[in-house]
Amino acid sequence: MAMNRSRRSRENLYRMYMEFFERAERKRRWSVFEDIPWELHDPSRNDEERALNVETFCAVELYLPDFVSKGVNLVRECFGQTWFQVNWGYEESKHGLALRLYLENTGQRTTAQLFDLEESIAAKTWELPFHTARRMTCYGAIQESSTLLAYKRLIADSKRHEDELLAAILTLIARDEAAHGEFYRQVLAVELEEDRQAALDDLAYVGLNFRMPVLDLFDDLDARLRALRAHDAFDTWGFRVKIWAPLLKKLDVSREEMQQAYRRVREREREARREQDAEPGDRAANA
Ligand SMILES: [Fe+2]
Ligand SMILES: [Fe+2]
Repeated sequence: MAMNRSRRSRENLYRMYMEFFERAERKRRWSVFEDIPWELHDPSRNDEERALNVETFCAVELYLPDFVSKGVNLVRECFGQTWFQVNWGYEESKHGLALRLYLENTGQRTTAQLFDLEESIAAKTWELPFHTARRMTCYGAIQESSTLLAYKRLIADSKRHEDELLAAILTLIARDEAAHGEFYRQVLAVELEEDRQAALDDLAYVGLNFRMPVLDLFDDLDARLRALRAHDAFDTWGFRVKIWAPLLKKLDVSREEMQQAYRRVREREREARREQDAEPGDRAANA
Protein backbone atom coordinates (compact mmCIF):
# COMPACT_ATOMS: atom_id res chain seq x y z
CA MET A 1 0.00 0.00 0.00
CA ALA A 2 1.28 3.48 -0.81
CA MET A 3 2.17 5.54 2.24
CA ASN A 4 0.91 9.09 2.57
CA ARG A 5 4.18 10.14 4.15
CA SER A 6 7.60 10.02 2.58
CA ARG A 7 10.19 7.71 4.12
CA ARG A 8 12.25 10.77 5.02
CA SER A 9 9.49 12.38 7.03
CA ARG A 10 8.72 9.08 8.78
CA GLU A 11 12.40 8.81 9.72
CA ASN A 12 12.30 12.36 11.07
CA LEU A 13 9.21 11.62 13.10
CA TYR A 14 10.73 8.43 14.46
CA ARG A 15 13.79 10.35 15.68
CA MET A 16 11.62 13.08 17.18
CA TYR A 17 9.52 10.53 19.01
CA MET A 18 12.58 8.78 20.41
CA GLU A 19 13.92 12.09 21.73
CA PHE A 20 10.54 12.94 23.21
CA PHE A 21 10.19 9.52 24.79
CA GLU A 22 13.70 9.38 26.20
CA ARG A 23 13.29 12.77 27.83
CA ALA A 24 9.88 11.73 29.17
CA GLU A 25 11.23 8.47 30.61
CA ARG A 26 14.38 9.97 32.10
CA LYS A 27 13.25 13.39 33.26
CA ARG A 28 9.51 13.88 33.25
CA ARG A 29 7.88 10.75 34.63
CA TRP A 30 5.85 11.17 37.80
CA SER A 31 3.65 8.90 39.80
CA VAL A 32 0.25 9.54 41.36
CA PHE A 33 1.41 7.27 44.19
CA GLU A 34 4.84 8.75 44.89
CA ASP A 35 4.93 12.34 43.74
CA ILE A 36 1.75 14.02 44.90
CA PRO A 37 2.28 15.74 48.27
CA TRP A 38 -1.07 14.73 49.79
CA GLU A 39 0.20 15.91 53.20
CA LEU A 40 -0.18 19.50 51.97
CA HIS A 41 -3.94 19.19 51.97
CA ASP A 42 -5.49 21.91 54.11
CA PRO A 43 -9.29 21.51 54.40
CA SER A 44 -9.70 25.23 55.08
CA ARG A 45 -8.54 25.78 51.48
CA ASN A 46 -11.38 23.75 49.95
CA ASP A 47 -13.53 25.95 47.75
CA GLU A 48 -16.51 24.89 45.67
CA GLU A 49 -15.80 27.07 42.67
CA ARG A 50 -12.21 25.87 42.45
CA ALA A 51 -13.38 22.26 42.89
CA LEU A 52 -15.81 22.77 39.99
CA ASN A 53 -12.92 23.99 37.83
CA VAL A 54 -10.86 20.94 38.73
CA GLU A 55 -13.88 18.77 37.92
CA THR A 56 -14.24 20.46 34.52
CA PHE A 57 -10.60 19.82 33.64
CA CYS A 58 -10.85 16.30 35.03
CA ALA A 59 -13.92 15.64 32.89
CA VAL A 60 -12.20 16.83 29.71
CA GLU A 61 -9.22 14.60 30.51
CA LEU A 62 -11.65 11.69 31.01
CA TYR A 63 -12.71 11.79 27.35
CA LEU A 64 -9.52 9.81 26.83
CA PRO A 65 -11.13 6.78 25.13
CA ASP A 66 -12.33 9.01 22.26
CA PHE A 67 -9.13 11.06 22.07
CA VAL A 68 -6.95 7.95 21.92
CA SER A 69 -9.02 5.69 19.69
CA LYS A 70 -9.88 8.33 17.13
CA GLY A 71 -6.49 10.02 17.21
CA VAL A 72 -4.38 6.91 16.82
CA ASN A 73 -6.25 5.63 13.79
CA LEU A 74 -5.41 8.75 11.82
CA VAL A 75 -1.66 8.24 12.19
CA ARG A 76 -1.34 4.46 12.25
CA GLU A 77 1.00 4.25 9.27
CA CYS A 78 3.65 6.38 10.97
CA PHE A 79 5.50 4.76 13.86
CA GLY A 80 6.70 8.00 15.48
CA GLN A 81 3.24 9.56 15.53
CA THR A 82 1.44 6.39 16.58
CA TRP A 83 3.80 5.69 19.48
CA PHE A 84 3.52 9.33 20.48
CA GLN A 85 -0.29 9.07 20.58
CA VAL A 86 -0.14 6.01 22.81
CA ASN A 87 2.41 7.57 25.15
CA TRP A 88 0.37 10.79 25.11
CA GLY A 89 -2.66 8.73 26.14
CA TYR A 90 -0.75 7.28 29.10
CA GLU A 91 0.26 10.76 30.27
CA GLU A 92 -3.25 12.17 29.81
CA SER A 93 -4.66 9.20 31.72
CA LYS A 94 -2.61 10.29 34.72
CA HIS A 95 -3.95 13.83 34.47
CA GLY A 96 -7.55 12.64 34.71
CA LEU A 97 -6.63 10.26 37.50
CA ALA A 98 -4.67 12.80 39.57
CA LEU A 99 -7.48 15.36 39.37
CA ARG A 100 -10.05 12.71 40.24
CA LEU A 101 -7.98 11.64 43.26
CA TYR A 102 -7.60 15.28 44.32
CA LEU A 103 -11.37 15.78 44.33
CA GLU A 104 -11.96 12.57 46.24
CA ASN A 105 -9.05 12.68 48.71
CA THR A 106 -9.79 16.28 49.70
CA GLY A 107 -13.43 15.37 50.32
CA GLN A 108 -14.69 17.85 47.72
CA ARG A 109 -16.44 15.12 45.75
CA THR A 110 -17.77 11.77 46.94
CA THR A 111 -16.94 8.54 45.15
CA ALA A 112 -20.59 8.38 44.05
CA GLN A 113 -20.37 11.87 42.51
CA LEU A 114 -17.27 10.86 40.58
CA PHE A 115 -18.98 7.78 39.20
CA ASP A 116 -21.90 10.00 38.17
CA LEU A 117 -19.41 12.24 36.38
CA GLU A 118 -17.94 9.19 34.66
CA GLU A 119 -21.41 8.17 33.49
CA SER A 120 -22.21 11.60 32.11
CA ILE A 121 -18.94 11.51 30.19
CA ALA A 122 -19.60 8.03 28.81
CA ALA A 123 -23.00 9.22 27.56
CA LYS A 124 -21.37 11.63 25.09
CA THR A 125 -18.65 11.04 22.57
CA TRP A 126 -16.02 13.46 21.47
CA GLU A 127 -15.78 13.62 17.69
CA LEU A 128 -12.62 14.38 15.78
CA PRO A 129 -12.79 18.08 14.96
CA PHE A 130 -10.62 17.57 11.84
CA HIS A 131 -10.16 14.52 9.68
CA THR A 132 -6.59 14.45 8.46
CA ALA A 133 -3.42 13.77 10.43
CA ARG A 134 -1.92 17.12 9.42
CA ARG A 135 -4.94 19.11 10.53
CA MET A 136 -5.02 17.21 13.81
CA THR A 137 -1.35 18.09 14.29
CA CYS A 138 -2.25 21.78 13.88
CA TYR A 139 -5.12 21.24 16.31
CA GLY A 140 -2.83 19.48 18.80
CA ALA A 141 -0.28 22.29 18.69
CA ILE A 142 -2.94 24.89 19.47
CA GLN A 143 -4.96 22.78 21.86
CA GLU A 144 -2.03 21.65 24.02
CA SER A 145 -0.71 25.21 24.31
CA SER A 146 -4.17 26.45 25.26
CA THR A 147 -4.47 23.71 27.86
CA LEU A 148 -1.03 24.56 29.24
CA LEU A 149 -2.01 28.21 29.51
CA ALA A 150 -5.25 27.28 31.28
CA TYR A 151 -3.35 25.07 33.75
CA LYS A 152 -0.83 27.87 34.38
CA ARG A 153 -3.70 30.20 35.22
CA LEU A 154 -5.15 27.60 37.59
CA ILE A 155 -1.74 27.13 39.24
CA ALA A 156 -1.49 30.88 39.87
CA ASP A 157 -5.06 30.84 41.18
CA SER A 158 -4.40 27.93 43.58
CA LYS A 159 -1.26 29.65 44.84
CA ARG A 160 -3.17 32.88 45.39
CA HIS A 161 -5.65 30.94 47.49
CA GLU A 162 -2.94 28.88 49.20
CA ASP A 163 -4.14 25.52 47.94
CA GLU A 164 -0.59 24.17 47.75
CA LEU A 165 -1.68 20.60 47.08
CA LEU A 166 -3.64 21.58 43.99
CA ALA A 167 -0.80 23.82 42.78
CA ALA A 168 1.62 20.86 43.08
CA ILE A 169 -0.66 18.50 41.12
CA LEU A 170 -1.30 21.06 38.40
CA THR A 171 2.43 21.75 38.09
CA LEU A 172 3.13 18.07 37.36
CA ILE A 173 0.37 18.05 34.75
CA ALA A 174 1.48 21.33 33.17
CA ARG A 175 4.97 19.97 32.49
CA ASP A 176 3.43 17.14 30.47
CA GLU A 177 1.19 19.55 28.56
CA ALA A 178 4.22 21.69 27.68
CA ALA A 179 6.00 18.61 26.27
CA HIS A 180 2.91 17.63 24.26
CA GLY A 181 2.64 21.09 22.72
CA GLU A 182 6.33 21.00 21.84
CA PHE A 183 6.03 17.63 20.11
CA TYR A 184 3.08 18.75 17.98
CA ARG A 185 5.00 21.90 17.05
CA GLN A 186 7.93 19.78 15.92
CA VAL A 187 5.66 17.58 13.81
CA LEU A 188 4.18 20.70 12.29
CA ALA A 189 7.69 21.90 11.44
CA VAL A 190 8.23 18.61 9.55
CA GLU A 191 4.93 19.15 7.73
CA LEU A 192 5.99 22.67 6.74
CA GLU A 193 9.23 21.29 5.40
CA GLU A 194 7.36 18.65 3.37
CA ASP A 195 4.76 20.93 1.80
CA ARG A 196 4.82 24.46 3.17
CA GLN A 197 1.77 25.88 1.45
CA ALA A 198 -0.50 22.93 2.20
CA ALA A 199 0.61 22.86 5.85
CA LEU A 200 0.04 26.63 6.20
CA ASP A 201 -3.42 26.25 4.66
CA ASP A 202 -4.24 23.53 7.18
CA LEU A 203 -2.97 25.69 10.03
CA ALA A 204 -5.13 28.57 8.79
CA TYR A 205 -8.13 26.28 8.36
CA VAL A 206 -7.75 24.88 11.87
CA GLY A 207 -7.20 28.39 13.24
CA LEU A 208 -10.48 29.55 11.71
CA ASN A 209 -12.41 26.54 12.98
CA PHE A 210 -10.72 25.86 16.32
CA ARG A 211 -12.82 25.21 19.42
CA MET A 212 -11.62 24.05 22.80
CA PRO A 213 -13.11 20.59 23.55
CA VAL A 214 -14.59 21.92 26.81
CA LEU A 215 -17.14 23.87 24.75
CA ASP A 216 -18.76 20.76 23.33
CA LEU A 217 -18.81 18.30 26.19
CA PHE A 218 -21.13 19.65 28.90
CA ASP A 219 -24.85 20.20 29.36
CA ASP A 220 -24.13 22.68 32.16
CA LEU A 221 -21.47 24.55 30.19
CA ASP A 222 -22.50 28.07 31.23
CA ALA A 223 -21.99 27.47 34.95
CA ARG A 224 -18.64 25.83 34.24
CA LEU A 225 -17.42 28.65 32.01
CA ARG A 226 -18.51 31.21 34.60
CA ALA A 227 -16.41 29.43 37.24
CA LEU A 228 -13.42 29.13 34.89
CA ARG A 229 -13.62 32.80 33.94
CA ALA A 230 -13.95 33.86 37.58
CA HIS A 231 -10.58 32.17 38.15
CA ASP A 232 -9.00 33.53 35.00
CA ALA A 233 -8.72 30.08 33.39
CA PHE A 234 -10.72 30.57 30.20
CA ASP A 235 -10.78 33.45 27.78
CA THR A 236 -11.13 32.51 24.11
CA TRP A 237 -9.79 35.70 22.59
CA GLY A 238 -7.06 36.34 25.18
CA PHE A 239 -5.84 32.78 24.81
CA ARG A 240 -5.78 33.09 21.04
CA VAL A 241 -3.58 36.15 21.18
CA LYS A 242 -1.19 34.52 23.65
CA ILE A 243 -0.89 31.28 21.71
CA TRP A 244 -0.68 32.25 18.07
CA ALA A 245 2.20 34.71 18.11
CA PRO A 246 4.65 32.35 19.90
CA LEU A 247 3.51 29.40 17.76
CA LEU A 248 4.17 31.23 14.49
CA LYS A 249 7.47 32.56 15.81
CA LYS A 250 8.68 29.08 16.77
CA LEU A 251 7.64 27.75 13.37
CA ASP A 252 9.30 30.67 11.63
CA VAL A 253 6.10 31.62 9.82
CA SER A 254 5.62 35.34 9.13
CA ARG A 255 2.38 37.22 9.65
CA GLU A 256 2.16 37.91 5.92
CA GLU A 257 2.55 34.24 5.07
CA MET A 258 -0.21 33.38 7.52
CA GLN A 259 -2.47 36.15 6.15
CA GLN A 260 -2.03 34.74 2.66
CA ALA A 261 -2.98 31.28 3.91
CA TYR A 262 -6.11 32.69 5.60
CA ARG A 263 -7.04 34.37 2.30
CA ARG A 264 -6.59 31.13 0.34
CA VAL A 265 -8.68 29.17 2.83
CA ARG A 266 -11.46 31.77 2.90
CA GLU A 267 -11.49 31.91 -0.89
CA ARG A 268 -11.81 28.13 -1.09
CA GLU A 269 -14.66 28.21 1.45
CA ARG A 270 -16.46 30.90 -0.59
CA GLU A 271 -15.94 28.78 -3.70
CA ALA A 272 -17.42 25.72 -2.00
CA ARG A 273 -20.44 27.76 -0.85
CA ARG A 274 -20.98 29.12 -4.37
CA GLU A 275 -20.96 25.56 -5.72
CA GLN A 276 -23.39 24.45 -3.04
CA ASP A 277 -25.75 27.36 -3.74
CA ALA A 278 -25.61 26.67 -7.45
CA GLU A 279 -26.49 22.99 -7.08
CA PRO A 280 -30.28 22.98 -6.50
CA GLY A 281 -30.78 25.28 -9.52
CA ASP A 282 -28.64 23.02 -11.68
CA ARG A 283 -30.64 20.02 -10.61
CA ALA A 284 -33.89 21.83 -11.42
CA ALA A 285 -32.54 22.84 -14.83
CA ASN A 286 -31.55 19.26 -15.57
CA ALA A 287 -34.87 17.81 -14.48
FE1 LIG B 1 -3.77 16.65 30.00
FE1 LIG C 1 -1.75 17.17 26.81
